[in-house]
Amino acid sequence: MTLLIMLLLTVYAYSKLQDEISITNTVPQKQFSYEHRGDDIKIKVETKDELSDKIFMLQDKIRQLERLDRKPFPEVQFLSYTNRKRILVTGGAGFVGSHLVDQLMLQGHEVTVADNFFTGRRRNVEHWIGHENFELLNHDIINPLHIEVDEIYHLASPASPPNYMYNPIKTIKTNTLGTINMLGLAKRVKAKLLLASTSEVYGDPEVHPQPETYWGHVNPIGPRACYDEGKRVAETMCYAYHKQGGVDIRVARIFNTFGPRMHMNDGRVVSNFILQALQNQPITVYGDGSQTRSFQYVSDLVDGLMALMASNYTQPVNLGNPDEYTINQRKPDISVAMKILKWKPKVPMIAGLNKTIEYFKSELSVRHHSQRNIWEPEKHSA
Ligand SMILES: NC(=O)c1ccc[n+]([C@@H]2O[C@H](COP(=O)([O-])OP(=O)(O)OC[C@H]3O[C@@H](n4cnc5c(N)ncnc54)[C@H](O)[C@@H]3O)[C@@H](O)[C@H]2O)c1
Repeated sequence: MTLLIMLLLTVYAYSKLQDEISITNTVPQKQFSYEHRGDDIKIKVETKDELSDKIFMLQDKIRQLERLDRKPFPEVQFLSYTNRKRILVTGGAGFVGSHLVDQLMLQGHEVTVADNFFTGRRRNVEHWIGHENFELLNHDIINPLHIEVDEIYHLASPASPPNYMYNPIKTIKTNTLGTINMLGLAKRVKAKLLLASTSEVYGDPEVHPQPETYWGHVNPIGPRACYDEGKRVAETMCYAYHKQGGVDIRVARIFNTFGPRMHMNDGRVVSNFILQALQNQPITVYGDGSQTRSFQYVSDLVDGLMALMASNYTQPVNLGNPDEYTINQRKPDISVAMKILKWKPKVPMIAGLNKTIEYFKSELSVRHHSQRNIWEPEKHSA
């Protein structure tokens, strides 16, 4: 009985649908008359067919104009299906992440960026938006992410003191919940995960330079603890997932890095000096000025991160420039990176500074949204 009622209802619904279709089909062709008088567009059509033709023509014109207006994508290598990897970069719209994205894209991989734009900017990766190998997700990693990937570069976290101290609870959540979510994803899809850790895990070190085996001298309740301890527990979680869940992990302990797309107001010495010099302001020197610091240029760091991901080394690796530190500064011992990854920083400080100054200059001259990011990615020499 129920079956019979359902059958009758279906027949009724179908006949109503047919009525509607025939009503639409009986609309006379001649009823359309549309005219638009803009500055250069004049359309007058009499019939439905003419209207469709005009719309088609206009859509085509729009596509042509869009193509004219857009800069071509940087040239990317073609990788076959077997060599092409699907790579997630968390924090990929940030300073280091965007340079990493450039190299992965130039190599021909499929890259997904997940970023909540707390300190990152669309502008840093705008030259890839629309490319078939590139995807930009506005995603906060404290929420789970379900995608299919082969490798994860986990960089999402504010990195400079004013940024990570702005909201310490959020910084801790990003480094703990966020890292758990990424490790969970890596476990589920059997992806390799590289954690961007930091030299701050050594705290105020009592050993100089710091080898990876040094456990650090840290304060769990100091103002920087949200970041330092957040990264320390992120490392701990990586090793727990590695041992218990079999996740293939890499841990890079990154030392001070500089270059184009770095934050102009991060309060650190490189950005402070460049900004003050370009704005003709007095240069602020802390202390007696005798302290020396050395920063690695961002392309060297990116090469190190990619070499680490490609290696099969699961212990932490320092990536930094060991030159020109005074005894009291954090100073990397990079012998592991030199031995295992055959890596050491290549870009001289002055060459890196010139590129960074050029970038700061162009950013300071920006007056309109339409002025695009000038920093063109270039493939690193091997
Ligand atoms: N730059 C350095 O000198 C340095 C030194 C040591 C370690 N690191 C590490 O390298 C990584 C990148 O640093 P950076 O200098 O490029 O910093 P950055 O601030 O430019 O980039 C961090 C990116 O992460 C994003 N992000 C922050 N919280 C997020 C969240 N909850 N969800 C999604 N995205 C989020 C930001 O929007 C930004 O795009 C960080 O993990 C940092 O701790 C950097």
